[in-house]
Amino acid sequence: MELALRAARLGLGTTAPNPSVGAVIADEKSGEVISVGTTAPGGRPHAEPLATALAGARARGKTMYVTLEPCSHVGRTPPCVDAVLTAGISRVVVAQEDPDPRVAGRGLARLRQAGVAVSRGLLHEEARWLTRGHIVRVTERRPFIQLKLAVGSDGAVPRGGAGKPVFVTGDVARAHGHMLRARTDAILIGGGTLRDDDPDLRCRLPGLAGRSPIRVVLAGGQLPAPSIRMAATAARAPLWIMAAAPTLAAGQDRAEALRRAGCRVLQVGDVGGRPWLPSVCEALVGEGITRLLVEGGPALWRSFAEAGLADEVRLFRAGAAGEPLGRGHLTIPPFLGRLLPGLTLQPVDRRRLGPDDMMTFRHDRPLP
Ligand SMILES: NC(=O)c1ccc[n+]([C@@H]2O[C@H](COP(=O)([O-])OP(=O)(O)OC[C@H]3O[C@@H](n4cnc5c(N)ncnc54)[C@H](OP(=O)(O)O)[C@@H]3O)[C@@H](O)[C@H]2O)c1
Repeated sequence: MELALRAARLGLGTTAPNPSVGAVIADEKSGEVISVGTTAPGGRPHAEPLATALAGARARGKTMYVTLEPCSHVGRTPPCVDAVLTAGISRVVVAQEDPDPRVAGRGLARLRQAGVAVSRGLLHEEARWLTRGHIVRVTERRPFIQLKLAVGSDGAVPRGGAGKPVFVTGDVARAHGHMLRARTDAILIGGGTLRDDDPDLRCRLPGLAGRSPIRVVLAGGQLPAPSIRMAATAARAPLWIMAAAPTLAAGQDRAEALRRAGCRVLQVGDVGGRPWLPSVCEALVGEGITRLLVEGGPALWRSFAEAGLADEVRLFRAGAAGEPLGRGHLTIPPFLGRLLPGLTLQPVDRRRLGPDDMMTFRHDRPLP
């Protein structure tokens, strides 16, 4: 199952609106791994038929480990349960049931009815976290939300300006930040960051340019000008501008010019003329987004935190690598409560990235 989870992790950011699933076919007697499948880019084919196709006749009588319950309904592809049964798999171990009402235990029931031995719950917690974008899309109509912050060791947030971001962290941390971009479906910034930094927001890791997420700007009182840097690459990495009705009504010419430049302009619900985040989430989910990386800046982080709309926080701290590592040192820096009011965070990881470090926190409310 650990191997299946690794396989699923590889597909994060490429399979929306479907979850990235990993499936492993193994021979329990010899301990041999026969095949490994990951949900294909675009979400189809699913991991199970890929793994059975790779294994061919060798799948017969073997065990499949899969990170999410196989689907049992006919969607744009035949049900995965059929692929498992046709391949002659005799035992299926799933990490978790699929909360999608079209599946919700039916996949497992069909396997059992066909005489397949089924067990579930292995490495459930890790699988649940990996699949959280899919789970909250189905249960809460929002994507998995990751807040990414880069700060000085004292928690100060550097401000960009004159159309350029200011980087506090070094190359290793920045490369890691780009990896987060590769693993998300969409990346979001606020109007303030757009004005100060005029950023690009694509994934610039060698070989992973194709993994750039959909770029989303949350406009406040004004729509951005079509001359922003990101508009020039809108044909290669989509750019969506989200704004409230009053902003759109006041900026019809700009909206038209942005559309001509290849951007999408989407209307979202508002409170007092400013985009209302639950409505932003609903719109993103409606467009098939399951994982959202909020890059900032501080006003936007605060809004997401105050609304309780965060699953994970990635905090990059410049020059903090010297602090001791280890479980005992997994504490919450005092400045984080000021930057992210309203979140109850659990520290789960801290690692060195060159001279800097990255801390990971989970805001893990019980899911329905
Ligand atoms: N170190 C880092 O990790 C990092 C990351 C990103 C940015 N930054 C820096 O942060 C600075 C910008 O931060 P900022 O706090 O001024 O602006 P921001 O958070 O980037 O954007 C805030 C603006 O977004 C618009 N907005 C729309 N809906 C919103 C909502 N529901 N909640 C909050 N804002 C909403 C508003 O635009 P209007 O003002 O048009 O109404 C608001 O002023 C830049 O200098 C940038 O360099 C640092």
